[in-house]
Amino acid sequence: MAEHQDRTRTAYDGVVELYASMFADRLETRPFTRAMVTTFAELVRATGNLRTADLGCGPGHLTAVLHDLELDAFGLDLSPAMVAHARRAHPSLRFDEARMEALPVEDRALGGVLAHYSMIHTPPGELPALLAEQARVLAPGGLILVSFFATDGPEPVRFDHKVTPAYSWPVDRFAELLAGAGLATFARLLHDPASERGFLDAHLLARLQ
Ligand SMILES: C[S@@+](CC[C@H](N)C(=O)[O-])C[C@H]1O[C@@H](n2cnc3c(N)ncnc32)[C@H](O)[C@@H]1O
Repeated sequence: MAEHQDRTRTAYDGVVELYASMFADRLETRPFTRAMVTTFAELVRATGNLRTADLGCGPGHLTAVLHDLELDAFGLDLSPAMVAHARRAHPSLRFDEARMEALPVEDRALGGVLAHYSMIHTPPGELPALLAEQARVLAPGGLILVSFFATDGPEPVRFDHKVTPAYSWPVDRFAELLAGAGLATFARLLHDPASERGFLDAHLLARLQ
């Protein structure tokens, strides 16, 4: 495992209870995210393939939301403590330890992939490989909803995220990387930050060509 993945895993292992408590209301106080996740779920249902991965699922709250939206959702995360929490909190759902770099999922198996702020800690140079891995597990026509911190300017910006260093991304650059993996972005939502961090929140919906 790369050093930065090890650092991310250790960092999230150490903040499970605090992190889970921040998102305990699921999406009640996050109307924009709720709108995008609901739209994503509707489009995945329309493909007829309900199997959906919540990548970097953390405490599993969004996996549960996807399940409530009638998807056959499961969660994967690098952090063993997050996975243990998710299993305790949602005993009827499936959660496994896994790295986004090597997903334990067959080729073309999924109707949907949710990656909600789960690639923010990935060094920019490694993002194309992660997106290619996500494209690998999606069936043709499958959907991805990716959320991240957006920034102006031409390049991603490294910043001191409270848990472990992270990157904010120019939205067009992120969409280009998705396109490079065969994922065509067809909807974007940008909104003022939910936190005091200052970056816009960005949600991109893309479909595997
Ligand atoms: C900012 S949290 C987001 C959690 C959840 N998706 C949410 O929106 O609340 C990032 C999560 O991604 C996980 N993560 C980061 N890098 C990962 C990787 N390479 N493979 C799998 N999980 C990863 C972390 O362990 C953490 O739980």
